[in-house]
Amino acid sequence: MGRVPTTRRAFSVLMLGLAVAAGAHAGGSGDLGPLPSLKANKAKAELGKRLFFDKRLSGDAAISCATCHQPEHGYSHPDALSPGYPGNGHFRNSPTLVNVAHKKIWLHDGRIGTSLNDVTREMLTETYIMNMDMRIMQERLKQDPVYVKMFKDAGMGEPSNGGVRNAIPEYLKTLTSKNAPFDTGNMSDAAKRGQGLFTGKAGCVSCHTGPLLSDGKYHNLGVPENFAIFRDPMNHQAFITYNMFMGIPNYMNLKRDLGAFNQNKSVEGAEMRKGAFMTPTLRELKYTAPYMHNGTLATLDEVVAFYDRGGGRDPNKSAMLKPLRLTAGERSDLVAFLESLSGDPLTGDAYVWSEPYPEEYEAIANWRNVRN
Ligand code: HEC
Ligand code: HEC
Repeated sequence: MGRVPTTRRAFSVLMLGLAVAAGAHAGGSGDLGPLPSLKANKAKAELGKRLFFDKRLSGDAAISCATCHQPEHGYSHPDALSPGYPGNGHFRNSPTLVNVAHKKIWLHDGRIGTSLNDVTREMLTETYIMNMDMRIMQERLKQDPVYVKMFKDAGMGEPSNGGVRNAIPEYLKTLTSKNAPFDTGNMSDAAKRGQGLFTGKAGCVSCHTGPLLSDGKYHNLGVPENFAIFRDPMNHQAFITYNMFMGIPNYMNLKRDLGAFNQNKSVEGAEMRKGAFMTPTLRELKYTAPYMHNGTLATLDEVVAFYDRGGGRDPNKSAMLKPLRLTAGERSDLVAFLESLSGDPLTGDAYVWSEPYPEEYEAIANWRNVRN
């Protein structure tokens, strides 16, 4: 499980959240714009690509990162609730990984604020995700001559779990938006009108700001629970495991995802974080339906209708959400703007490992005497 930010950090994140939101609300245009490009080490990123699509990185060698983060779906998954390790479901929607290297705090509840290296470890070792024992993983990789060469070429010595946690984030740096009409300036009139609403009357920019269109903070929108979590034992067992680990009292009877509450339960203001989730990026939405942390809104029309109603119902709901009273034309302009934030699909060979993985390897003749 991920490292929870320290008391001081969680508190300052909260205070910053309030300050930034209030500032943006006062009329800033939100500093929207293209993302700066990231430099990736070529050999490490290539190794990370092979690892990302390799099922041998899960305990039973049945699923890879790409099982839940699928290239044709913007590196997310089209089910409302993500699949889990075989024999499990998950209790949240699998988020896009496009532009994920630009983030500073990860997961829907924001419980990892250190690095993608730590998020990668979480994905690999968490029992209901890939259930991988890193010691076995490392030995498995050493059996594959292609990895032995690729780790060496990347300057990382022999295959190691530290190397895996280093190479995958390097590959993730290569997944960045390409040619979004918003970035190229090639926007339709409807999308331009939508941008005016986004930064004006509809107030979206209060939280969806900066090049990622996210303030990197959490807010409570009153998004309804996805009750499939509690009806399906596959999803529910993962939900229980997570809440047990998080130290939530009475987790067996819990019928609610507490979200950012789990960042730190002992800090002042923790109660207020119950049901709050991190503001996601709005890039590549064209590919990443359904929406929200639990996939309860199926289309962008539904999302805009949700905001038009002033969000959902929750005692902690953000005071920034108010009924918007948009016309049908304005709602469709907003959707056109959201669509203009999606670029080319990242599905070509530059992003996807398409060569087959070997089923078996020939043993090295004198393997007892070879150091590994
Ligand atoms: C069984 C499905 C599954 C697999 C396999 C999986 N993930 Fe995830 N991933 C998820 C889900 C679900 C979340 C959101 C979890 C949460 O919020 O608690 C997530 C979140 C993430 C995030 C954080 C995204 C963000 O914006 O905060 C990253 C990065 C990530 N995964 C990378 C990977 C990598 C790299 C691998 C392979 C080592 C991997 N995932 C394997 C389902 C999966
Ligand atoms: C108070 C802050 C806030 C405001 C204002 C706001 N959003 Fe959001 N938005 C969020 C948060 C937080 C989430 C994630 C909620 C969740 O996962 O349950 C979100 C999620 C979304 C999503 C789903 C993205 C995904 O990948 O699942 C879309 C689309 C979206 N917002 C668009 C808008 C639009 C359009 C507006 C203006 C009408 C708007 N937002 C106003 C905070 C805000």
